[in-house]
Amino acid sequence: MSGSIVILISGSGSNMQAIIDTVDAGEISGHISAVISNRPDAFGLERAQAAGIHTEVLDHTEFKSREIFDLNLIRKIDDFEPDLVILAGFMRILTPDFVRRYSGRMINIHPSLLPKYQGLHTHKRAIEAGDKEHGASVHFVTEELDGGPVFIQASVPVKESDTPEALAKRVLTQEHKIFPIAVKWFMEGRVQLENGIPHMDGVSLEGRVPRLHAEPSEE
Ligand code: GRF
Repeated sequence: MSGSIVILISGSGSNMQAIIDTVDAGEISGHISAVISNRPDAFGLERAQAAGIHTEVLDHTEFKSREIFDLNLIRKIDDFEPDLVILAGFMRILTPDFVRRYSGRMINIHPSLLPKYQGLHTHKRAIEAGDKEHGASVHFVTEELDGGPVFIQASVPVKESDTPEALAKRVLTQEHKIFPIAVKWFMEGRVQLENGIPHMDGVSLEGRVPRLHAEPSEE
């Protein structure tokens, strides 16, 4: 049980659950010190409590500005001295000070094959563009929204008949696979950000990000 992990959520927390399960299975060298939600009604809080993990709520609606909220969030996070901060469906735009504080030790999952489709409605946008494949990416968080360096991705084929909802569901299955892998690699010190470029076992991942492909049964 080495290494402290703090997870930030806003909603269902299914990605967080996948990480909890992998930690519980002993596959990640670290422990989840706290789960913090900016929404008091996030279902992920119940999941974390059911797993015996300490939870906190910091309701952003109770703060006058984004800056003040983020300063308070930093205070809360730092109580747990995290080696890694995980954004698992944390639906907030972060201030530059917040991002800088956790530079190189904060990761996010985004439901697209970045750099495609930063921002919202990624599944709808991929279908409308006629993309043949879509997916998810785990990246280090930088000041550019969904723009930080990616170090693992997963792809799924887009079907002719796909709705955004159906596609989102298949992508989410892949998210639950790559996010725990990303956390495992980071906590083992295998993945690191060096001069803004992710490295794996000391080798640059620029232009060669590892990508999982959905199993035929998951397509
Ligand atoms: C996921 O699709 C994730 O990629 C996005 O928000 C969603 C969160 O889902 N950032 P959950 O809360 O992990 O179930």
